[in-house]
Amino acid sequence: MSLTFDLERRPDPASDERRAEILANPGFGVYFTDHMASATWTRDGGWHDGRIHPYGPITIMPSAAVLHYAQEVFEGLKAYRHEDGSVWSFRPEANAERMQRSARRLALPELPTDDFLASLRALVEVDEAWVPAFGTGETSLYLRPFLYASEAFLGVRPANEVTYSVIASPAGAYFPRGLKPVRLWISEHYARAGVGGTGAAKTGGNYASSLAGQLEGIEHGCDQAVFLDSATHTYIEELGGMNLFLVTDDGRLLTPELTGTILEGVTRSSILELAKDLGLEPEERRIEIQEWKDGVRDGHIREVFACGTAAVITPVGELCWDGGEAPSTAGDEGGEVTRSIRQALLDVQYGRAEDSRGWLTRLA
Ligand SMILES: Cc1ncc(COP(=O)(O)O)c(C=O)c1O
Repeated sequence: MSLTFDLERRPDPASDERRAEILANPGFGVYFTDHMASATWTRDGGWHDGRIHPYGPITIMPSAAVLHYAQEVFEGLKAYRHEDGSVWSFRPEANAERMQRSARRLALPELPTDDFLASLRALVEVDEAWVPAFGTGETSLYLRPFLYASEAFLGVRPANEVTYSVIASPAGAYFPRGLKPVRLWISEHYARAGVGGTGAAKTGGNYASSLAGQLEGIEHGCDQAVFLDSATHTYIEELGGMNLFLVTDDGRLLTPELTGTILEGVTRSSILELAKDLGLEPEERRIEIQEWKDGVRDGHIREVFACGTAAVITPVGELCWDGGEAPSTAGDEGGEVTRSIRQALLDVQYGRAEDSRGWLTRLA
């Protein structure tokens, strides 16, 4: 039976003035809407108790399994306001399916796609005023579904009680002053994920394990770290929160193949589908970090960019490592291919281009 989300309305929602003040400068992940969605799963009762309730602190026991064994997964997607005032999401079923795959890997129950979509619709409907207006740049309402072991039990086994929630946060333009290429650090000491591990799942542990490499990069004057395969430290995997693409001089669009250690980004899959429309030949394969270093020097690699829901596409500038640096091919604002793919995706997301692939789902 599918979940319904009953509404318990907040008695003290943000005033129109306060909301307008936040929406004028929302940043990312700082402010949250008035409500959140939740549902509970128990081994005996399945999914039940779907509700929309006031956003606020949650109560779990100190013995809740998630706090000890990190049995949790999450998702990230956006709601976009179109010119006619309607609100849409980009391929949310892909996020629902990825959350199901992540849940299987973490021995959590799967939330059916229809229930996932119903939770987003119910939350966006009640907090619709928090979706930034059309024409305010690349602004959106970021949606963060998450699923965690809330059972109070210290034994190491899959939890018998699990909580699902969705929170929503207005998001400003990622690049308010124009695209700025990021400087990347090759994480040679720290891997993000290993073969047979949880790299392909969107689970908190992967992000925790990426932070040391990220910090090392920042200490070396870089913005982000790029992780390599943990076995040989030879092949490019991804960034801590974005997939990577390389554009070659003969019109190929290279990206590391999915080996089980990389997150299958929705943006990545969409770019692979769009590539042909833009006259590019997509190629998923293992890519040696040396190919990147040599390629930007000898002209074989023309552009490098990272992609993910938050920034859509970020041009990549210099590649740095202990004792060396490969030059940027990104100029001040990223190369031509980087910018045209970015524009093509944004145009679909904001309803400025025809949605010929049926990627948009209306939320409100
Ligand atoms: C590790 C990692 N890789 C890639 C991505 C890009 O995925 P998506 O395009 O679905 O946002 C993300 C962001 O969610 C991520 O956290």
